[in-house]
Amino acid sequence: MFAFIALASLLISASSVLASPTPSIPSNCSVASAKPDLPSGQTNITVPSGQVPETIALGVGVQNYTCTDAGTYTTAGAVATLFDISCIHDTSQYPTITKVAYDIWNAIPNNDIANIVETFVEKAFPVFADHYFITSPSGTGISPVFDARSTSHKGDPNAFVLAARAGDLAAPTGSQDIDWLQLSNVQGDLAKTVLRIDTQRGQPPPSCTPGSELISVKYTAAYWFLS
Ligand SMILES: *[C@@H]1O[C@H](CO)[C@@H](O)[C@H](O)[C@H]1NC(C)=O
Ligand SMILES: *[C@@H]1O[C@H](CO)[C@@H](O)[C@H](O)[C@H]1NC(C)=O
Ligand SMILES: *[C@@H]1O[C@H](CO)[C@@H](O)[C@H](O)[C@H]1NC(C)=O
Repeated sequence: MFAFIALASLLISASSVLASPTPSIPSNCSVASAKPDLPSGQTNITVPSGQVPETIALGVGVQNYTCTDAGTYTTAGAVATLFDISCIHDTSQYPTITKVAYDIWNAIPNNDIANIVETFVEKAFPVFADHYFITSPSGTGISPVFDARSTSHKGDPNAFVLAARAGDLAAPTGSQDIDWLQLSNVQGDLAKTVLRIDTQRGQPPPSCTPGSELISVKYTAAYWFLS
């Protein structure tokens, strides 16, 4: 006991990171009967009938934004690492995990996910997938990808999902948090549906100076992979 106590102490004691070569939480717990805690009285985000959760992941990363000529930020994708937290779904740590993880991530003084978050968080939870954006199959716009081919599903060429937005719900926790999303499979075998819920932060400032550079805003979220 455990992950986040361990994480907090890892932040204080980098040497214990190096002494802990394998994740302390396994990745193979069934979550088929788990139910995401979705706001009642809305249909924007749902579990499609017949689908069940296969993996619950903690996403730690950044939302990118570029500045429009009108002086407001517009989304430019995201990059995140997803950690398998299926095995803590039934514990008292689960309900606050995106908040606790955000506070740790926010305390790290830059956006270097590969070298910092993986160094720390990977020691507690196994890496499930990488999250990034690529040009959409239509050739216009960008699409989110969840890619487990070089992490939890090495050797499986179809262990990814390229997804399209099917539903969007303003975060019930407040406007500082990015929207909750329902994403549907377009390509790949990793999931039929991905839900992004329990978001923490990730929103851009309200305005920007046209011509200014891309910004990256830290966020965390829970991602539920349903099949
Ligand atoms: C999960 O993995 C552990 C360690 O390899 C193993 O002991 C356990 O039986 C596995 N549990 C399931 C449900 O597969
Ligand atoms: C988002 O920004 C990060 C740096 O914070 C960068 O590594 C990544 O490539 C960017 N991704 C996109 C889609 O712009
Ligand atoms: C639900 O989705 C509709 C249609 O996209 C949208 O207009 C509405 O704002 C959403 N509701 C919330 C609470 O985000």
